[in-house]
Amino acid sequence: MFCTVLNDLKSPENIGMIVRSHVAFGGDRVVIVGRKTPWRFKKRSQAFSRRLEKVSEIVHLEDEAAFFAWCEAERLAPVAIEIAASPTLLPDFTFPQRTALVVGNEGVGLSPAFLARCAGVVTIPQFGPVGSLNVAISCSIAMYELNRARPLGRPIAGHKYLVQPSERPGAAGPSVAPPTDAGGAT
Ligand SMILES: C[S@@+](CC[C@H](N)C(=O)[O-])C[C@H]1O[C@@H](n2cnc3c(N)ncnc32)[C@H](O)[C@@H]1O
Repeated sequence: MFCTVLNDLKSPENIGMIVRSHVAFGGDRVVIVGRKTPWRFKKRSQAFSRRLEKVSEIVHLEDEAAFFAWCEAERLAPVAIEIAASPTLLPDFTFPQRTALVVGNEGVGLSPAFLARCAGVVTIPQFGPVGSLNVAISCSIAMYELNRARPLGRPIAGHKYLVQPSERPGAAGPSVAPPTDAGGAT
């Protein structure tokens, strides 16, 4: 079981891509840290998640302190996906049973203080001359790896996985919880 945590991300396009991967890989909740108001996905400002955000519960947390308290309350191990000086490489990492998978801001990533509080810091190996991957790509690769041992989950028809009517956006299911005024856990 995993939740996906977006720490201070700025780009709606990245968030949209991550929400799509999160749903496809069977994630539990999406956690948005450091943004007081809910994302307003506008037409053309994001490509993917207007429907998908309705099928996954979104939790808003005010700051990193609130996030680590939430992890403790939810019995989730925070695992940072980040390039680190002495990394555990993704293929060598065993994800905890209950993982909060965290990715960082597009410009500055996750701070050393944040990484020090995580149960694991996992780096995706790179081989070509570029400093880092796109955050949504990194997150999706980590979700794939986290799920790799699972058996194929659902039937395929043509070039798509089949989605049951009860699982479609708009069917009774998880609700999107808005943040409180204080921006705390919802
Ligand atoms: C574009 S990076 C942040 C900028 C980067 N620290 C730099 O100085 O260029 C945004 C996020 O993508 C993820 N990321 C990018 N490349 C990664 C890699 N090779 N391994 C793990 N995470 C990565 C991390 O979560 C990171 O916080």
